[in-house]
Amino acid sequence: MPAPSPSSPPPDLLAARVRDPYPYFAWLRRHAPVRAERRDGRPTVWQISRHEDVLALLTDERLSKDPGRVPGYVAGPAGLNRHLVHSDPPDHTRLRTLVNTAFAPRRIAQLEPFITDTAHLLLDRVEGHAHVDVIGDFAAPLTFRMICAILGVPGELDNARTRDTLMATIAPAPGVDQARVDDALHALLDRLVATKRTGGEQSGVDLLGALVRAGDESGAMSEEELRSTAYLLLLVGHDTTMNLIGNGTLALLRNPAEAARLAAPGLVTTAVEELLRYDSPVRDATFRCAAESITLHGQVIDEGDIVSLLIGSANRDGLRFPEPDRLDLGRTPNDHLAFGYGPHFCIGAALARLEGAVAFPLLLRRLGSVALAKPTEELPWRPARVMRGLAALPVVRN
Ligand code: HEM
Repeated sequence: MPAPSPSSPPPDLLAARVRDPYPYFAWLRRHAPVRAERRDGRPTVWQISRHEDVLALLTDERLSKDPGRVPGYVAGPAGLNRHLVHSDPPDHTRLRTLVNTAFAPRRIAQLEPFITDTAHLLLDRVEGHAHVDVIGDFAAPLTFRMICAILGVPGELDNARTRDTLMATIAPAPGVDQARVDDALHALLDRLVATKRTGGEQSGVDLLGALVRAGDESGAMSEEELRSTAYLLLLVGHDTTMNLIGNGTLALLRNPAEAARLAAPGLVTTAVEELLRYDSPVRDATFRCAAESITLHGQVIDEGDIVSLLIGSANRDGLRFPEPDRLDLGRTPNDHLAFGYGPHFCIGAALARLEGAVAFPLLLRRLGSVALAKPTEELPWRPARVMRGLAALPVVRN
């Protein structure tokens, strides 16, 4: 007779969840593929960990993206929740159409020379330095510059201070008051929107300028939707891709034989997909709640419960990927869910893929022979629930 499944995950797996979630995810997939976390006075959260189930639920219309359905649930900074990630049709369809074209693959492809030049410039600055932080010196400024260019953010706001203001909204530094974080964010958005209304910098794609005009001239978007969308795009437009570059570089440093394969032309496309799968930047799909009751593997998810679709776990599911814990830059097929699936599929996928395709080979070539400056157990993972990313990735030149 098989041993009965343990009902709770071993404490050591739980304790290591931020640093290394994969043993915990493997436990979930095996013993509790639909697992409830019940907490007093707070909505129940169901963790879904198998690829097949995550994929099915990403397109299941019984799940809603509207946090307003869960009483008392706080989804993000006050007054900034009316954007496409937190909406269902018809609002979702309207908001998505307004931003979609700016991220169309054909338009994004034109950015390649700009991405390459910016990447070189950032690496020039650390040329000859013994110590480099792949996140702070490279991934953060590169990815933020790109989303600023698309949105039309004025140059004087494209800096580390703006990035810190945005990042603090999902992972405030210890001891920092949430109200102050929100105030700084609102002040930033006031300034941005005012720049667009007064006809400031309007070069390039200038998506934000286009959204302001769409709202003002035809009422296609309310003021709250405009500010929410600007916040969303500024945040997810760089945090995610920064994590792709950080997590991906870490994976390459820990798998030198695979990193060596990247020197071969033609492998970069499958390599980026595999790095997205192997240590997925978005570990958990964003907010969803049951709009009606759903039964899955004998468990009943009640209306109003929150459903957490563990992308990072789905992407390591051995039922979908042979040898799921092995990094294989030539892996095909690779049906990872790193960008989600269905109606909320990532709008920035083409941009993120291009940034990855430019960044990885260039970084490996220009950094030369480098090693991690710290043991992997000591790397500073940011404690955010949805994202998986490093606060810093220090490397030292050999
Ligand atoms: C490697 C980088 C990226 C990853 C892994 C990623 C991942 C994801 C995932 C998993 C979703 C689906 C969320 C859900 O279904 O709840 C999503 C949606 C979205 N992503 Fe990305 N993303 C990345 C880069 C970007 C970039 C560069 C942008 C640029 C603006 C962006 C904008 C968005 C938007 C606006 C949505 C919401 C789409 C909707 O709700 O219809 N993402 N992304």
